[in-house]
Amino acid sequence: MSFQILGTGSALPARSVTNDELSAFLDTSDEWIFTRTGIKSRRVCTTETLDDLAVEASRRAIEAAEVDPTELDLIVCSTTTGDHLLPAEACAVAERLGASCPAFDVSGACAGFVLALDVADGYIARGRARRVLVVAAEQMSRVLDWTDRSTCVLFGDGAGAAVIEAADAAEATAGPEATAAAANSAGSLSAPNPLSMRFTTGPSVAVLNVPGLAGTSPFAEAPRPASALSMDGRRVFRFGVAAICDAVEAMASDAGIAVADIDHLVFHQANERILAAAIKRLGIDGSRVVRTLRDTGNISSACIPLALDRLARAGELKGGDLVALVGFGAGLDIGACLLRWK
Ligand code: ACO
Repeated sequence: MSFQILGTGSALPARSVTNDELSAFLDTSDEWIFTRTGIKSRRVCTTETLDDLAVEASRRAIEAAEVDPTELDLIVCSTTTGDHLLPAEACAVAERLGASCPAFDVSGACAGFVLALDVADGYIARGRARRVLVVAAEQMSRVLDWTDRSTCVLFGDGAGAAVIEAADAAEATAGPEATAAAANSAGSLSAPNPLSMRFTTGPSVAVLNVPGLAGTSPFAEAPRPASALSMDGRRVFRFGVAAICDAVEAMASDAGIAVADIDHLVFHQANERILAAAIKRLGIDGSRVVRTLRDTGNISSACIPLALDRLARAGELKGGDLVALVGFGAGLDIGACLLRWK
């Protein structure tokens, strides 16, 4: 069983916050932030809710896919910063789209979109779903300590989404002639898709952590820490570079191709210096690595679908192109996927 991506979408809050604006209340500078991270500005929610962003990104993906929300068999949302601890963010998306299919969240931090894609792939493979909306939405601004210059400058808010469909369903819709033409033009379009998926967890909670709600239980005997993000930046840096390189090499090997054969590399957008180090270690053409973080910052699991959407809408993804997705982050989780764009 295979799936293909029918359409993508993304949404960002209206408010852009520049590095200079952060310098007004933090002991930092545009020069420090930009040279160490590649970030110039990030989008931050003011009046928007995360539900708003998740729904907008989903609507755009559904429109691009030319499907109706009632035709969805499943909605999987990746988030660790949802508007509700319960119900799942996916339920809010389903309600506002007018969909009535099963809807639930996965919590995989920055690897979450690829983990959600894998869940969707499993539903399709078991014949439980044919069309799935996979959405990632994060409001990092609500879990940051805005007095901590070493973390709050790195993140932003946003959402990205993709509608995926069982490959045989798309072929049936397109008809046998279109399917044959596509197969001829791109050689291996009939091969299983994705070509490879790879997941690992190197358990380490303290490296990148946001504690849960403290609550007000009268029985709690130990104080609970505040829900603010903490991070060992240097550990994350080393982990990120290794995660990208190991995943890309493993997936190329699984698919029997060279790393240089991959047309588009969509990595989690943590930090420009992580991307640069990975590009150097892999010896790849840096222009094939998508960058969005300059004007979005790190949006955790929403980075990958947002970058994919920008590529798709810029017309840069052609039928038959090989696309590698690598998410990595808190966990420490890695989720990677090599797929052929159809
Ligand atoms: N502005 C000015 N100075 C700062 C800032 C800031 N925003 N942040 C930290 N500093 C200072 C520190 O206080 C420290 O000062 P000191 O030497 O007087 O103590 C100095 O800069 C060096 O601090 P380091 O933390 O060692 O800075 P480093 O050069 O390692 O850069 C960074 C920090 C950019 C976070 C780096 O560790 C990094 O790239 N890590 C990767 C982690 C990352 O990108 N995480 C993103 C989220 S995680 C994820 O998505 C998976």
